[in-house]
Amino acid sequence: MTENPALYNQLDPATEARVASLLAQMTLTEKIGQLVQNNPYGQFDFADYLAKKQQAEEAGLPFVYPPNLREDLADILRTGRIGSFLNVMDPAVINHCQRLAVEESRLHIPLLFGGDVIHGFRTVFPIPLAESCTWNPTLLEKASRVAAEEASASGIDWIFAPMVDVARDPRWGRIAEGAGEDPFVGMAMARARVRGFQATNLTSGRRIAACPKHYVGYGAAEAGRDYNTTDFSERSLRDIYLPPFKAAFDAGAGTVMSAFNEISGLPATANPLILRTILRDEWDWPGIVLSDYDAVRELIPHGLATDMKDAARQSILAGLDMEMVSEGYTKYLEELISAGEVPQSVVDDAVRRVLRLKIRLGLFENPYLDESLPERIHLQEDFRALALEVAQESMVLLKNENNALSPTTLPLSLQTRIAVIGPLAVNRADLLGCWALVNHPEDVETVLEGLGHYLKADAMTYTRGCPISADDTSGIPAAVAAAQEADVVVLVLGESADMSGEGHSRVQLGLPGRQQDLVDAVAATGKPLVCVLMSGRPLVIPRLAGQVNALLAAWHGGIRAGRAIADILFGAVNPSGKLTASWPRAEGQIPVYYAHKSTGRPSAEAGTKQFAEAFKSVFLDAPNSPLFPFGFGLSYTTFRYAGLQIENPTLGLDDTLIVSARVTNNGDRAGAEVVQLYVRDLVGSVTRPVKELKGFQKISLQPGEAQVVRFEVPVRELGFTGRNMGYTVEPGAFKVWVGTDATGGLEGEFVIG
Ligand code: NOJ
Repeated sequence: MTENPALYNQLDPATEARVASLLAQMTLTEKIGQLVQNNPYGQFDFADYLAKKQQAEEAGLPFVYPPNLREDLADILRTGRIGSFLNVMDPAVINHCQRLAVEESRLHIPLLFGGDVIHGFRTVFPIPLAESCTWNPTLLEKASRVAAEEASASGIDWIFAPMVDVARDPRWGRIAEGAGEDPFVGMAMARARVRGFQATNLTSGRRIAACPKHYVGYGAAEAGRDYNTTDFSERSLRDIYLPPFKAAFDAGAGTVMSAFNEISGLPATANPLILRTILRDEWDWPGIVLSDYDAVRELIPHGLATDMKDAARQSILAGLDMEMVSEGYTKYLEELISAGEVPQSVVDDAVRRVLRLKIRLGLFENPYLDESLPERIHLQEDFRALALEVAQESMVLLKNENNALSPTTLPLSLQTRIAVIGPLAVNRADLLGCWALVNHPEDVETVLEGLGHYLKADAMTYTRGCPISADDTSGIPAAVAAAQEADVVVLVLGESADMSGEGHSRVQLGLPGRQQDLVDAVAATGKPLVCVLMSGRPLVIPRLAGQVNALLAAWHGGIRAGRAIADILFGAVNPSGKLTASWPRAEGQIPVYYAHKSTGRPSAEAGTKQFAEAFKSVFLDAPNSPLFPFGFGLSYTTFRYAGLQIENPTLGLDDTLIVSARVTNNGDRAGAEVVQLYVRDLVGSVTRPVKELKGFQKISLQPGEAQVVRFEVPVRELGFTGRNMGYTVEPGAFKVWVGTDATGGLEGEFVIG
């Protein structure tokens, strides 16, 4: 764990004095420059790029496309008209720009380099949704620290992560980037990531600031269509979407990125409720608010602003400090101030925040990058080992039934002859997942290579069967033939990396292309089937889940995914991942999440099979419950829960609920279990969810070993946004469960008096 993460959410007098002295020397143009983030490159000539790439390939030369820096770069930097760049990956360009800013501008103010480091930098970890399935914040903190080490070595001072949007709609491609459907899990992961990113003792000697995003409610995009409208109550805003941001700030985050979506009719970029009232008045948070890409300009198509000038005015007045890319501030802030439409003090406050961060990052003292750092720091052996550990813990075993040969299909025996079938078994690029900015597919270990650590080449065949998404079934007969020759078939199926992530939403969440046809044909052989399923989201796969004997959700698992999968399939690693987002039975159920409300006509189903209840809140053609619930994940061993104890079943507001249960590993393998605690507030002044996660602990147990797991939940954390829109903990009766997932567990009761 990081001993001493930086806290950019606090003020210190020495920094404030430096900020004040700088601010006093700045012209208005220089001030506005600090509020501008853009990129240093000129128009990208794609045709030219492709032509040069082809020439290089034909000549067998390495392809380097010379950075096409914008023509006015030197001029804007010398005159202090830009304060920050984004996603510059080339240390030489970073130093070049920094030199112009630091040595040739009047006040020598360094630039801030921001970048999207979403799940690792060169050492690509599993996608964040997968990482959250580890339920292991300590591990995520370490992974975030590795990302910071590598990003910092490449000159990034500001990481546009963690993405902490609660997401309950798997159609939304960006569900891949966050920690799933639950605010409590989201808070834990947000804290861990901020601590890891903001570790102060990075090898580069530099520092990194985290930037939680997208503030706020972006995950509620209607129909899961990216950039779509959102419409949720202020109560949901406060109880569901805000808590992970607050957790990130409390962990020391001093910047935030505003979201593309609207909140109650006002796009986040120009929304004073979220940018001023909540951040400044309620939370007293002193950090920087950065817009998302082009989002100030987007106020025009949103229908909120008439033109760029109006968009800039509304944004700065609402509390948006720095504008990413769209140039409304550059072009119009000066004019708006002269006209008295924007008070000078608003700009000064924003500039103060930016200068404060630059000072606290140490950029004035240490602006340049040692260009040999990436080579020395990236992809170290211990980073790769950590990527393997995270991948192993992130994968979720969804099914493991008997087959004709054995009582459980997994783990596989080393004597097994395997037919590996499917388009993702030899794939590298897709295992990196969405948002892998530094894209080196050659770093990735394939599934076939991973399996090769366990089986000799002659015990294993590989047949693709079909492509990921193209309409081509010509390879299916060969796959069937291969299956017939094997003891067990390992199907490696799923989504490509570009089926999730930003701007990549889908409405059909089954297996893409002709992969289901491939499964049908292979299943007809009657051979035992193991499916390794890769995806950037929960998929809708009831048919597949019924056909295979074992099913492993492997996500897009990063550079070590192939090895991690093999380790799990052969039992060298006992799977311990648990879902942080429910897997629906059908797209039509979406959104399906465990912490739903009861309604006035709740179904008696509660996760059972019976669903045709007349005039209850049910579907006619599917149960309400998901196919795989939140918190769910199997192990190669089994855990027994017993002996629930509530130490103090009657509590005051300042008390701490203490609940314990005894968990025993009653199988024959060592394993890890995520023990989960849920509560229900039975009657409130406003309706409450049927269950809410309030604690989890991941424990490791040897065969036969038992542990009493004890949870301490401060009663103050059992509150919600009450009728008067303030945070309240209400007296009354509660239920509590301790169990292995969101559907059941040992049940008890307590009362807040
Ligand atoms: C748009 C994305 O929404 C955001 O997450 C990202 O940080 C910015 N682009 C910058 O690349």
